[in-house]
Amino acid sequence: MAAHGKIDLGVPLMDEDHARIDELLDAARCMPDEDLPALCAAVTMEVREHFKREEDFLRDRSFPGLFCHVAQHKVLLADLTRAGAGRGAALRRQMESIIPQLIQSHVTTMDGMAAAFLKGELQASEFDILRLPLPESVG
Ligand SMILES: [Fe+2]
Ligand SMILES: [Fe+2]
Repeated sequence: MAAHGKIDLGVPLMDEDHARIDELLDAARCMPDEDLPALCAAVTMEVREHFKREEDFLRDRSFPGLFCHVAQHKVLLADLTRAGAGRGAALRRQMESIIPQLIQSHVTTMDGMAAAFLKGELQASEFDILRLPLPESVG
């Protein structure tokens, strides 16, 4: 089990990608400080590729919460980029604790809701009260 808790959403594309990211993050615990910047870069690349696959998948299935989901992906990538600028104990804290928590939080909330929609547990109409107006519709 991943150090920050493996979560299976029941959507293979998401679960397999998330497991790869978990595996990379778990490697931080037995790695010397000098190797952490390269690991952070590898995690960032893996996460960026995962987000692209996940967004394409959700777009393909007309997921009604896509706009908000993509915005949250951008926030996470910005967090990862900021973390990658750190070194030593600061970067270790990011890699062992903060980044895994941010990713786990995204997977349990945003990805969990997307997975529920993909599995037919949530209907498109249920997103109407949750969705913020899209920029085009803001007068
Ligand atoms: Fe995801
Ligand atoms: Fe996501």
